[in-house]
Amino acid sequence: MNRGKWLVRFAFLVMAIFLVGCGTGSKNGSTGDTGDAAEAGGKKKLIVGTDATYAPMEYMDEKGNIVGIDIDIVKAVAEAAGVEVEFRNYGWDPLFPAVNNGEVDFAVSSITINEERKESFDFSDPYYIASQLILVPEDSDVESFQDLKDKRVTVQNGTTGHIVVQGLQGDTSSKILAAETMPLAIGEMINGNADASVGDNVVMIDYQKSNPKVKLKAVEDDSFEKEYYGLMVKKGNQEVLDILNEGIKKIKENGKLKEITGFDVE
Ligand code: ARG
Repeated sequence: MNRGKWLVRFAFLVMAIFLVGCGTGSKNGSTGDTGDAAEAGGKKKLIVGTDATYAPMEYMDEKGNIVGIDIDIVKAVAEAAGVEVEFRNYGWDPLFPAVNNGEVDFAVSSITINEERKESFDFSDPYYIASQLILVPEDSDVESFQDLKDKRVTVQNGTTGHIVVQGLQGDTSSKILAAETMPLAIGEMINGNADASVGDNVVMIDYQKSNPKVKLKAVEDDSFEKEYYGLMVKKGNQEVLDILNEGIKKIKENGKLKEITGFDVE
């Protein structure tokens, strides 16, 4: 056999080992590639898409498992509703088409329920409250959202943080740098490529706490509205929506949701 063929074989072997190593460690280990709600050992199984770059809400642990507060909430919802769940990491932008084309049954990703998204998707009842927060270098003179009017600001593309900064500076402002993930957006600010970052408070605060050597200042502003997170399903998918709402209702009633998040969501 010539060298070329061996190389191809070797490449396949490496790929196979890599793919096995990438398993999410889900109990069922399903490799089914449709998002159809399948039956798993008598229980219905739902495929859940996420953007696991959003600690502490959804992120990868050292072993490559998808973990976080959102993940714990969905597991509790599933348990309460009597269904199985399997998580898949899609990234933020690809998550929306994945829900739309049925690759996943629903998405969890700290997704704020807003009017624009409600035109294209359906949302569960709210399960978490957040608001935007500004992160700046510790010695920055920024003290309010208005102070960002002429500053270079990083956001995660297509998020509510992006939308509020567009509201301040205009949709086409060249001073907005929209990154693929929130950590990348914050990294650009730390590197000096921007003056501030805007994103969900829980994630910004977590970043600041987990990186104490990077001297950052968090700036709150009363003009930021309350945002409610919901689980997102394909428009019209009442079956999955009912399952999720049943689970959410139960874990609100039995205190499990509060146990996970630390606060009540009406
Ligand atoms: N709550 C914000 C929004 O819905 C940001 C969510 C980003 N989530 C994520 N996993 N990257 O737009």
